[in-house]
Amino acid sequence: MKFELYKGKHFFIWGGGHGIGLALVKELLARFPEAKVFSSYRDEQRSKELIDLSYSLKDRLEIFRIDPVNESELFDLAVDLKSLHMEIDLFINCIGLLHNEEFQPEKSLRSVSMDQFMETFKVNSVVTALIAKHFERLLPSKTPSAFIVLSARVGSIGDNKMGGWYSYRASKAALNMILQNIAVEFKRKRLQCLVAPIHPGTTKTDLSAPFIENTKYRLHEAEESAFNILNQIDNRSIEETGSFLSWDGENIAW
Ligand SMILES: NC(=O)c1ccc[n+]([C@@H]2O[C@H](COP(=O)([O-])OP(=O)(O)OC[C@H]3O[C@@H](n4cnc5c(N)ncnc54)[C@H](OP(=O)(O)O)[C@@H]3O)[C@@H](O)[C@H]2O)c1
Repeated sequence: MKFELYKGKHFFIWGGGHGIGLALVKELLARFPEAKVFSSYRDEQRSKELIDLSYSLKDRLEIFRIDPVNESELFDLAVDLKSLHMEIDLFINCIGLLHNEEFQPEKSLRSVSMDQFMETFKVNSVVTALIAKHFERLLPSKTPSAFIVLSARVGSIGDNKMGGWYSYRASKAALNMILQNIAVEFKRKRLQCLVAPIHPGTTKTDLSAPFIENTKYRLHEAEESAFNILNQIDNRSIEETGSFLSWDGENIAW
């Protein structure tokens, strides 16, 4: 059984306000004129392009302002959407935190703090478990679906030769474990759902901006990453659920 994007009627992008999430919203709208795209965002100032797009494409794009670490907001939205008797064929969670006004990724143990760890785990790990908890009810029971989250290669324990970035690396490793658990549980419930973390590749966004000047990795525009991510998801066998995917087709070591 395969998950084929063109058969999808409803797609949901979490964190579509800017960066790779916004590029995914635009790519889905461009590729699938018959489908409807839903997107969440949190920061209104940074999500102006998404908000403007939703005004100009009223019937095709519906957006929700949500603070995803607030579980009651997730619950309310899931109930509202379920009451419309609709199903979501594809979720992609693009919400992620590496740095903010208060902290930068830790270069060594000296910079490790409880606050940074807690905030990073909340956003990068726990939010995905809560989204799955409340939106599982929106997945189709009879047709293939996909529940995808943007993880990061630096979350691979097997691939870690450089160290540093304690909270971000650990939160992405935890995210990968959460997704593996969701994959097992959905299989047990006989949902035909492809559950997978995907590494989008190093991409020019606000998240990566302070760190990409001397990167040894190939740099992508957000639009390129969106294109690559959808190509990796499309046409996948549901049996591949629980794999750690990469933008270039590689399966990354856990
Ligand atoms: N860019 C890269 O090179 C790269 C590489 C590997 C993995 N990734 C992953 O790709 C995903 C997308 O990142 P991006 O590069 O597109 O960066 P981005 O433009 O900074 O997007 C980050 C997203 O996370 C949301 N977010 C950030 N902090 C939040 C918080 N405290 N509470 C709730 N939401 C929060 C942002 O929404 P608001 O601004 O509306 O809050 C935004 O939707 C992330 O999971 C990231 O870890 C990126």
